[in-house]
Amino acid sequence: MKFGRMVLLTGAGVSAESGMGTFRDQGGIWTRHRLEDVATPEGFARNPQLVHDFYNARRKALKDAAPNPAHHALSRLERAMAAAGNELLLVTQNVDDLHEKAGSQSLLHMHGELKRVACVSCGVKGAWDDDLFTDTECWRCGTGALRPDVVWFGEMPYGMDAIYDRIAACDLFVSIGTSGEVYPAAGFVHEARQAGAHTVELNLEPSVNARDFREGRYGPASQVVDEWVSDLIGRISP
Ligand code: OAD
Repeated sequence: MKFGRMVLLTGAGVSAESGMGTFRDQGGIWTRHRLEDVATPEGFARNPQLVHDFYNARRKALKDAAPNPAHHALSRLERAMAAAGNELLLVTQNVDDLHEKAGSQSLLHMHGELKRVACVSCGVKGAWDDDLFTDTECWRCGTGALRPDVVWFGEMPYGMDAIYDRIAACDLFVSIGTSGEVYPAAGFVHEARQAGAHTVELNLEPSVNARDFREGRYGPASQVVDEWVSDLIGRISP
């Protein structure tokens, strides 16, 4: 089968072997922190410094984190697709910067980015590398109202119109390293099937919606994604 328009979706599993931690696996982030406290607007209103501490630690962890073979394989696939005049969009739920570090460019962070902040007061957004505190002043309006530019539960993920447009036109949809527990991303496979696309799941183990995919390959992302990309690149044609 030949594919000219791909949409790839990644989740925490693609970064697990880079040491970033997943959310719902044994020992995962949501087994150690209450998501209501650190990943909702209400939690931020109740205790903003707790939220800052949580994201400060995760932002700090990015400094030493390196992309693994799965990130590199997806970047290789993007270059091969572009060289053949084909289209690829990589949609990630991850807030880390490992796809960028591996060289991916056609990338959409639907849940935001750890290395960006937004001002709750004036709405300005920008790159941010340092720790955030409740009195960290916004560079534009001067108030201490900065928050991590990540999407919390109850908020609208970024780029949804563009994502749905690309899925509606894709001939291959691939879900990588995500549990399929969180919507709207968990519903993308249904949109892709409606568009007539081939659907593939690459994950450590079958996800809760594994049956919705036409094809599944299971094992650590560093191996499974790398092998799948190598197979696919051989079949890409202009
Ligand atoms: P989850 O923690 O829910 O799922 C991670 C998936 O990765 C699981 O299905 C694991 O089996 C799989 N996995 C673990 N290690 C792997 C490896 N080495 N190789 C391949 N797969 C592996 O994380 P997400 O699905 O990304 O949202 O979670 C989705 C969203 O829920 C996140 O973006 C975050 C979270 O709450 C927000 O914070 C808004």
